[in-house]
Amino acid sequence: MKVVTLVGSIRKESLNMKIAKFMQERYKDKFDMSILDISVLPFYNQDEEHNPPEVVKDFKKEIASADAVIIVTPEYNWSIPGVLKNALDWVSRVERVFVNKPVFPLGASQGVLGTIRAQLHLREILSSTGVHAKVLPPGGNEVLINLAAQKIEQETGTITDITTIEFLDSKVDTFIDFINAQRP
Ligand code: FNR
Repeated sequence: MKVVTLVGSIRKESLNMKIAKFMQERYKDKFDMSILDISVLPFYNQDEEHNPPEVVKDFKKEIASADAVIIVTPEYNWSIPGVLKNALDWVSRVERVFVNKPVFPLGASQGVLGTIRAQLHLREILSSTGVHAKVLPPGGNEVLINLAAQKIEQETGTITDITTIEFLDSKVDTFIDFINAQRP
């Protein structure tokens, strides 16, 4: 099973990137997970959408060939970071590679609310007419990692909080079942 991952933070020491890498290693027997670099994408421009730069074409190809997408994102100013919105704007037009794609959104913050507002916005964006993904339903499947700096080892990027790991394990299994249920 091929899974691509978008990370909503492009800073070097991103906690969300550390979680994505932790997942890549921990679930390597469950799926082949690659992390796409959204920092290389130019600003979305409608004038270019029919003949976008090569990096955009490559990005869309990677998503199109994947069975599912994982999005790990922080919250910026009560929403998702612009860099992630930009990536979603590119995929929402012309080759709409998120249409019916199973997506598992999750995120981590240093504060107590664990990106809840960003996740709610993200779910709305993913359900929009242009993006139109198949989002893992809410109601127990929201992975909101709060106080993340205390739960992730800085050097290794390992999640040290057992409850968080066990919850993530169970939601990854739920997501795999969800992906399989979407297959024709
Ligand atoms: C933040 N942060 C933040 N946290 C939060 O819980 N709600 C918010 O609205 C915001 N807004 C916000 C805006 C901007 C511009 C920055 C830089 C930060 C804090 C954020 O959760 C924290 O910096 C995370 O560590 C960012 O994720 P990464 O980069 O570690 O993955």
